[in-house]
This record gives sequence, structure tokens and C-alpha cells, in this order.
Amino acid sequence: MENPRIRPQHYAILTLLGGLFGLVAFHLWEPSIFHDPALYGFLFLALLAEALPVDLPQTRATVSVGFPIIFATGIILGPFAGLVVGAFGTLNLRQLLFRVPWVFVFFNRFQLGLAAAASAWIYDSLAADGGSMLWVGLFLGGAAYFIINAGSVTWVMALYHSVTAGYFFRRFVLGTVPAYIALIPMAWVMASIYTQVGFWALLVFFLPLFAARESFRLYSELRRASREMVVTLARTLEVRDPYTAGHSERVARLAVAMGRKLGLSQEDLDYLHLAGLLHDIGKVAIPDAILSKEGPLTEEERAIMELHPGTGYEIIKGLQFLGPSRGWVLHHHERWDGEGYPGGLEGEVIPIGGRILAVADAVDAMLSDRPYRKGFDLPHVCQELVNGAGTQFDSHIVRVFLDVAVDSTLVEEVLGRTDVLSLDDAYRLQAALEHRPGGVSEAAVTREPSSVEGERGLPGTGTGQPHEIP
Ligand SMILES: [Fe+2]
Repeated sequence: MENPRIRPQHYAILTLLGGLFGLVAFHLWEPSIFHDPALYGFLFLALLAEALPVDLPQTRATVSVGFPIIFATGIILGPFAGLVVGAFGTLNLRQLLFRVPWVFVFFNRFQLGLAAAASAWIYDSLAADGGSMLWVGLFLGGAAYFIINAGSVTWVMALYHSVTAGYFFRRFVLGTVPAYIALIPMAWVMASIYTQVGFWALLVFFLPLFAARESFRLYSELRRASREMVVTLARTLEVRDPYTAGHSERVARLAVAMGRKLGLSQEDLDYLHLAGLLHDIGKVAIPDAILSKEGPLTEEERAIMELHPGTGYEIIKGLQFLGPSRGWVLHHHERWDGEGYPGGLEGEVIPIGGRILAVADAVDAMLSDRPYRKGFDLPHVCQELVNGAGTQFDSHIVRVFLDVAVDSTLVEEVLGRTDVLSLDDAYRLQAALEHRPGGVSEAAVTREPSSVEGERGLPGTGTGQPHEIP
């Protein structure tokens, strides 16, 4: 089946790496190595280490602990053996059965073969005769392996997930650097033990290798579990208050769509998604009689209701991985004119995430049916937002919402609706917005749809499909 995320550039990269691989293999060609039983021994060890790769959360990328074995092969048997073990000792069952796209199966053979050959060649050139250059050769060889391996994976995966290479690297690769560095000396120790004791002594290394693998797996699990915990927390509220079913998820998606139009970084969009899911979590502490009350609230009840941003903040403040989204949850009921709660913050002092959530929250609340009224249509909601711009809402963010509301694809994807704001209405509201206090007079609303790639972040971070692994 065709995978729509595979781009023409992927085939270009594959051809480039395949050509390089062919050239290097031809240059290093050393058929006698195939008669050396040690080659098959290392091939076996590498296959064993790669048999259970660890998935990096939310991506197709995996991490394994085959690196020191492959590097040790190159140190002992030379670059050509390194290339063979790098390319073929890294196959696992999923790849052999083509459960991953064939482009990636071949891509991995080429990049890992090249990484292994380069690391062995550098070690050979600098450190083969031991002496003072030994550690320089080892670390430069290890660095070359990392640069080719991590660099090419970052390039291909950033394309696949439509994110920048810098973002992919920081989010998914940077954390593996200490492990790489720690495994470089292990490659040298393995090579020494092989030379001095023999092949079978190497099996001892599988204990620490599997310990390292376990720590990768735990890291990966921890990230997945954190995300699931946020979704579960958000759902606990919806169980109590069925009228808000799906509200947090829609607010999260809408906030991300607006944040993207505002040009926020992918990292901030991730935080915005989390803050959207959790923005009303403090309502779990509100008595049913108030939470589900159908009529207007008394002053006392309203005061209790207004505690929820602070309570929500108290619940989540210890969760470091939520970063700035904790502050955004706290401030999602502030008003532009300073009349909101809990801080009474005014204007741009309100954190950007709080201002975005305020608009997204109001939009979804007005669009939704309530026991005592039907939901409003989208043009009506846009009018209400413009009426509140400069007093309740940040005018700039209201303008960004108008931008979302004219884009039928985005409205359907984010809010699951088929109505849309007409361009005529959008121009009229845009003009009205300019006359609001602190009105914006920037570029008019356009229908220019963001590219499909631009609208989709990593699964679970952009368009609200948590836990989907492509
Ligand atoms: Fe709220």
C-alpha cells in the first residue's frame, strides 16, 4: 500500500546513499573477509543486539545497542567487515518481513553500512597502531558513526513527519547522545577482549548491553505514559460532566491550529496541545451541584467555579514535562482588559498560551449544545468573538481565529464541523475588529490554506490523534 508520507525526496536520498554505499563497498572490497569465521560471529552478535529495537515514541525511528558491536567489528576486522556487519547485522524481523516501508529498509542498510565503514576507516587511519592517538581515533570514529547515522535518520524522519530537522533532532535524537558516547569505550573494550581472550568472552557483554537497552525502553515508555496520563486526566473530568465530552480535545486541537498560524514553534504547539487537554482539570474539585447546574450560578457558586484554574494548576504543577503549559492552564480565564481571573493579568502580560486557550475555549463552548440552548453557528461565534476583542480577548488572536474559520478543511479537521465563515463575513468582521479597543489592522483575512503538511504535526501533537503511530 502506498504510504502518503513517503516523499519523492525520500527516493532521492535513497539513491544518493545507495550510490555512495556502492562506491565505498567497491573501493574497500576485500573478499577474503568472507572466509573469516569472526565476521559471522560479529554478524550474529549484531543481529542479536538488533533483534529487539526500541521504538522512539510517536515516530518510526528506533534505537538499538548494536553500535558498539558494529564499531568493534570495524576496529578488529577493518572497514569492509564493518560495512558488511553495519549493513546486514542491523536487520531485524520487522525489516526482513518488510513491515516497514521498503524505502526505509534499504535506506537503513546503506546509512548504517556507510556509518560503520567510516568509523572503522577513521579508527584505522588514526589509531590502528595504538599509542597516543588511540582515544582520538576512537572518539572521532564514534562521532563519524553518529553523524552519518543520526544525521541521515533525522533528515529522512523530519521529511516523513513534516517537521524541521532541528526539531526532530532536539526532540528525539539529542537524548541518545550520552548513550553513544558511553558506548564508544565499550567498542574498544570488546575489541581488546576479543583479541586477548577470544570470541566467546564477548557474550559477557550482553548483560550491560541489555541493561542499556532496557534504559532506552524505559525512557521511551515514560514518554508514552506521560502523554497517556494527560489524556486520562482530561477524561476523568468528562466522565463527571458529559456535556463537556470532547471539549478538551477540541480546545486542544483548535489552540494548536491557531498557534500554528501565529508561527509558534513545534515545541510550543506540543505544550499548547497538553494545556488544551488539561485546561479545565481543576473542575474535578467542583461539587456536582454547581458543575452540572443548568441555570445561572449564584455569586457564591460562581466564586467556587472560578477556583478551577488555580486548582488545576495545583494538580499539575509538579509535572515537569508539562513545561509552560502549567502556567497557561492557570491563566486561561484571564481577560485582555484585566477583569479576568485568577490573576487579573492584563494585555500581553497574560501568557500567550493563556490568551489562545481563552479564545479556543470560548469558541468551543459557544459552538456546543447545552441542555438549555442549542449551539451557535460559526459565523455567530465569530461575531461574538469580535464583540469581545480588545476587552475579553486579545484582538490579534481573534483575527487568527477568523483565519481558521474561513478555511473549511481546517474547520472540519479541528472542530468536526461543515459550516464555515464566508469571505464576505470575514472581511466585515476584520473591519469591525480594527475599530475595537487595541484593534489590529494587519493583513486582511485570507483564504490561503496552509499546506497539508503544515497542518499536521507529529501524531498526537498537532491534530489531536494521540497515540497514533504511523
Ligand atoms: Fe475553564
